[in-house]
Amino acid sequence: MTSFSRIVVSPPGPKARDLLKKDEQFVSPSYSRFYPLVLDSAKDCLLKDVDGNEYIDLNSGIACLNVGHNHPRVVAAIKNQCEKFLHYSNTDFYYEHVINLAEKLAELTPGGSKKKTYFGNSGTEAVEAGVKLAKWHTRKQLLIAFINGFHGRTMGSLSLTASKPGQRRHFFPLMSGVTHVPYGYCYRCPFKLTYPDCDYWCVAFIEELVLQKSAPPEDVAAFVFEPIQGEGGYVVPPPGYFMKLKKLADKHGILTIVDEVQSGVGRTGRWFAIEHWGIEPDIICSAKALASGLPIGATTASNNIMDWPAGSHASTFGGNPLSCAAALAVIDVIKEERLLDNSNKQGGYALKRLSEFGEANQIVGDVRGKGLMIGIELVENKEGKLPAPEKAREVMLRSWKRGVAIVTCGLSTLRLSPPLTIQREMLDAALDIVEDSISEVETEA
Ligand SMILES: Cc1ncc(COP(=O)(O)O)c(C=O)c1O
Repeated sequence: MTSFSRIVVSPPGPKARDLLKKDEQFVSPSYSRFYPLVLDSAKDCLLKDVDGNEYIDLNSGIACLNVGHNHPRVVAAIKNQCEKFLHYSNTDFYYEHVINLAEKLAELTPGGSKKKTYFGNSGTEAVEAGVKLAKWHTRKQLLIAFINGFHGRTMGSLSLTASKPGQRRHFFPLMSGVTHVPYGYCYRCPFKLTYPDCDYWCVAFIEELVLQKSAPPEDVAAFVFEPIQGEGGYVVPPPGYFMKLKKLADKHGILTIVDEVQSGVGRTGRWFAIEHWGIEPDIICSAKALASGLPIGATTASNNIMDWPAGSHASTFGGNPLSCAAALAVIDVIKEERLLDNSNKQGGYALKRLSEFGEANQIVGDVRGKGLMIGIELVENKEGKLPAPEKAREVMLRSWKRGVAIVTCGLSTLRLSPPLTIQREMLDAALDIVEDSISEVETEA
């Protein structure tokens, strides 16, 4: 319990348990719920479950509520739009929200070129559109994606996803032409090298052992990557990594598709996380936080790349007016409330605090992140670096039962992605609980 959260009955309480029984009966078992938190309502950084327990939210509905739950400006924009019209298929007609949001995204996405945006309804659709656009524009068939990456679960995006085997098992054959290569995951370098002595071998490897051996660059449409891997474990590549990758791409006329579905819209203290590496990707995919919980996917590219003709790609609900109205309000809120600054400020503080805590704790292997996208990778012990999934799960559950909603990613990483509105006092209260839970689990080991 903290001064912000309140546990009145050990969760899951009786109302939650009744709903869980019904869920088991009627809802697809394919969802992988972290724990039985059954939400009743939420406001800014706080959640209330159906039994009246209150929690600090370090999840933001999996990085979707960057402006906080139910921001009044966003709710007003949605209500206002509800009164006007709910849908009229941007595929077939026009309305101003799509046009205005595309204009904003052209301004906010990295790079000075003139840009256009395609709208879908989800992260996976944003990636699918990016892939189709790259194939259309280049007339090439192959794609290079990264081990540990997550890009969604529809068949095209799933072909790029390589995060957990359960996401792909029994779904083959997937889209052909995808080669997976190691990512810049220095804490667990797949080549067992050390940065910076490695001299970015993970990038040189792509050229020397993939492009020159099995995937001829003349046939490679794009590299597809997350600037910070999300589901794969909040993995932050080293400085310079994406510059090298972009240089390689440019050398061979290969496009870069950056998947900012989880890391975008201010999460890392910049509008888009790739800005931390200073490169201009060719295609930018965003979703999740863009419409503060309403479904949206956006695929943005320069005018010369987004050259596909009428009829080549579309979706009935893509660019839904409610979602676009919400997204326009989200952008205003991030600017007016200076949430990029707060993400940097609170994120920088949390990273420092957790790193110091981690140094003295045997099961904290690595603490990394940018802005308010922070991962704490737990291990069996610092020297062996053996991933500790059970320990991570235990810390997650204990934190939840004490009033802090946090989840894991990768094999054994705790992920912090609170709303960007969070303030120091609440952040400290949440970190107290998370750190205490880690210390307890460490002591009991
Ligand atoms: C980086 C990334 N790309 C794509 C997706 C897929 O998004 P959606 O679940 O909206 O299809 C996710 C979802 O977690 C993601 O984190």
